[in-house]
Amino acid sequence: MSALQKFTYGMFLLTAQEAGKDNGCVVNTVMQVSSQPARVAVCMFKKNLTHDMVLRTGLFNLCCFSTDAEFELFRRFGMQSGRKIDKFQDLTSLERGRNGLYLLTQGVNSSLCARVTDSVDLDDHTLFIAEVTESHIISQVPSCTFDDYQTHISSHKNIPSALRWVCRSVTSSKINSPFSRGTGTFRFPYLLSFRNYLRKQGVSESPYNPVMFEREARVIELLISEGFLD
Ligand SMILES: Cc1cc2nc3c(=O)[nH]c(=O)nc-3n(C[C@H](O)[C@H](O)[C@H](O)COP(=O)(O)O)c2cc1C
Repeated sequence: MSALQKFTYGMFLLTAQEAGKDNGCVVNTVMQVSSQPARVAVCMFKKNLTHDMVLRTGLFNLCCFSTDAEFELFRRFGMQSGRKIDKFQDLTSLERGRNGLYLLTQGVNSSLCARVTDSVDLDDHTLFIAEVTESHIISQVPSCTFDDYQTHISSHKNIPSALRWVCRSVTSSKINSPFSRGTGTFRFPYLLSFRNYLRKQGVSESPYNPVMFEREARVIELLISEGFLD
């Protein structure tokens, strides 16, 4: 449904904590849904670990990415699952809200803590509605939109130049493109499947089809390391 791709969104890090484990993921499906009390709604994919943590604990924090956010943050939180790694490892720009959950302090312009009051089962997603319990302004840098993210942050400049060169030459060749950009059609015969590869890398399957180029770059990295490409 291509009309849906024209919708615009903000970009957020949603953090959660359960039994002493911190986790978080990138979300774009956030909106304010009431003023008094202030409530927000966020839609979460059921396969995400963060989804399950929010479902079980009823708590989450939201950090609003600003336009100066590094691609690394989106990669760290939006392209791999906390089931396999500690996404907060080596991250220093962090505080905790009064609810004990992490709040990012760099690459974001504001943050809030929220307590879930309602949830709606939407088949592959759950819509969480939550009351805001605490909020912070961090900077005056403009909020990052989904379009900013796609156009500037996840653009080629974030990929090492050598790899960029390989990507260009491979994607421009007729036979070797792992998949066609935009459609996600998988054509490369050497890998078991693109999905399996992503799983191996800890990238959870997502219907959001984020940053195709970044994924393509990772596949190509693998192909190089396995000797299929020079
Ligand atoms: C640009 C972008 C937007 C995303 N938006 C959402 C979203 O709105 N809801 C959601 O559940 N996942 C969203 N995701 C996917 C999760 O961030 C991703 O699947 C993450 O790896 C889940 O990690 P987890 O298993 O540790 O929870 C988005 C990812 C990206 C890169």
